[in-house]
Amino acid sequence: MKLLHLDSSIMGQGSASRTLSAAIVERIVKAHDDVDITYRDLASEPISHLTFDAFMALDSGKDVQQFLDSDVVVIGAGFYNFSVPSQLKAWIDHIVVRGKTFARGETGPIGLAGGKRVIVALARGNVYGEGSPYQAFEHAETLLRSVFTFMGVTDIEFIVAEGLGRSEEARRTGIEGALERVRQVSPDSAASAMAGT
Ligand SMILES: Cc1cc2nc3c(=O)[nH]c(=O)nc-3n(C[C@H](O)[C@H](O)[C@H](O)COP(=O)(O)O)c2cc1C
Repeated sequence: MKLLHLDSSIMGQGSASRTLSAAIVERIVKAHDDVDITYRDLASEPISHLTFDAFMALDSGKDVQQFLDSDVVVIGAGFYNFSVPSQLKAWIDHIVVRGKTFARGETGPIGLAGGKRVIVALARGNVYGEGSPYQAFEHAETLLRSVFTFMGVTDIEFIVAEGLGRSEEARRTGIEGALERVRQVSPDSAASAMAGT
């Protein structure tokens, strides 16, 4: 199984999303002896913003190929200014490539990157879930769902820790609750494999 693990938080070891993405990867690795991991820290080794030349060339080199080659993609993302870290957005801009991850069909775009599983660990300071007055301010989960769905990925899962900015106690319990949910994540390359569906 090829696993691509991306982190994008700028907070180093204090990062909640890094803690969670590492726990997800650990869970998968413990269940399989054939996991081939590629790790990328998009904060310490940022990739460039998309340029006109790269966009026109329809070739984002190793980024798009690395994504296409992976069976499972685990992403750690902090929630920054209502969206994903710009480091992660830069990576997205390099993997949404016509002819590689999507194509133009007669009735609209067609995703070409199906068959893989994406698991996102997302850490938010405030609360944005159903019923929250800030629900419409959430542009990280919505963005990532849209982007991966556009590319044909149907197996997308979020482990969200939120309300982390409210107090030290809220941060601790928010991360603990999310780690508990990580323990429910299927460690297989397809989420449905564990459910037997
Ligand atoms: C630059 C920056 C911007 C942030 N913007 C928001 C925000 O818009 N909404 C929010 O709820 N929390 C915001 N936060 C709080 C983070 O979502 C929270 O600290 C979370 O733990 C980030 O994940 P990380 O610990 O993996 O970096 C922001 C934090 C930083 C550092």
